[in-house]
Amino acid sequence: MLRKNRFNNKKIIVGVSGGIAAYKIPHLVRLLKKEGAEVQILMTESAKNFVTPQTLSVLSERPVLINFFQNDLGEWNNHIDLGLWADAIVIAPAGANTLAKMTHGICDNLLLSVILSARCPIWVAPAMDLDMWEHASTQENVGTLQKRGIRLIEPTEGFLASGLEGKGRMAEPEAIFNTLVHDLLPPDNYFSGKKVLVTAGGTRESIDPVRFIGNHSSGKMGFAIAEALIACGAEVSLVYGSVSEKLPKNCIHYPVVSAEEMLETCKGLFADCSILMMVAAVADYQVQTISSQKIKKTDAAFALELVKTPDILTLLSGNKAPHQICIGFALETENEQANALAKLKNKNLDCIVLNSLNNPNVGFGKESHEVDVFCKNGNTWSIPAQHKSTLAETLINTLSVWLLK
Ligand code: C5P
Repeated sequence: MLRKNRFNNKKIIVGVSGGIAAYKIPHLVRLLKKEGAEVQILMTESAKNFVTPQTLSVLSERPVLINFFQNDLGEWNNHIDLGLWADAIVIAPAGANTLAKMTHGICDNLLLSVILSARCPIWVAPAMDLDMWEHASTQENVGTLQKRGIRLIEPTEGFLASGLEGKGRMAEPEAIFNTLVHDLLPPDNYFSGKKVLVTAGGTRESIDPVRFIGNHSSGKMGFAIAEALIACGAEVSLVYGSVSEKLPKNCIHYPVVSAEEMLETCKGLFADCSILMMVAAVADYQVQTISSQKIKKTDAAFALELVKTPDILTLLSGNKAPHQICIGFALETENEQANALAKLKNKNLDCIVLNSLNNPNVGFGKESHEVDVFCKNGNTWSIPAQHKSTLAETLINTLSVWLLK
């Protein structure tokens, strides 16, 4: 049975470039709207020759955007905001010219500028005559775009507007719609009954009976992820260190203090879990010898001998079974992407979620967060700043799609 409103809360930009297949886009817009998507149409000037902005504006229930400026009003259509607004961009039809410009980063119209500044996944549904499609330059351009993560919705074979017959017909609106359903939405009931191990909060490494080495982690992000998983039917084991948040309900709680304790608890749970989400801010160092008495203050300088804590994630993912998925979180303040990618590899992860401290309005203790996600299979995605609970839902949806398909 068709579930309705599967695209509720999804913001989709449909980019229409010039080509006869543009006459089919009203139908695509209808399909997306029927499933609850917010649809923003961006058109190129030449697309107006094939489908009217009025038609698309009525169906999408939004003004169609074509130019950087709205002529009579002098208002600016901000391509950066549009790119950040979208959860997905589908360019249909994507003509040879638009594909070539995308390949070379040309942004001489609003649609191309939005594509260049977008952080969400992008699909292209090419449409052109068969010789243009087969031309080495088009094929190379499409190959380059795919290598950069842009997803291709293959054109089909058949009669072309030129009267010729061959490959180059835009995929039918239903096929484009189904690709988006497949790629954007988690498989039904994927998490139902799945055991997931989530760690959250910060660890505390004792110095003496009253002092410790700790960090600013509040547990908010880990708890939001646990809650999103529970809402999807997962059986969550939540191992948490120091937190300042209310514990999520409907999961099993395992309070711990130090990295060593977190390791021992996780070791006992991991084998039984399908997914590990290591959100905790685990201390990298612990005190070599914890003083049994409170260390007395003296006038002399004081040095603590620190040794490395066990790397829980590396130890667990190093022994993971083929069906197990391990996801790490990295907080970086410099060379963020390179460091995150190194951790993805070195820690044998399926995915790493990169937190950066560059935006002072998000992160530690804040309600909002923004992350970049890198998967082993090459998928990457930036999730712009948003409330940690919606970010957790987006992350869970995206990961389940990416890691399964
Ligand atoms: O190496 P780094 O600490 O930056 O890696 C971050 C990831 O590794 C996080 O997922 C964190 O929970 C995990 N980690 C761990 N054990 C440690 C340190 C970090 O599992 N001792």
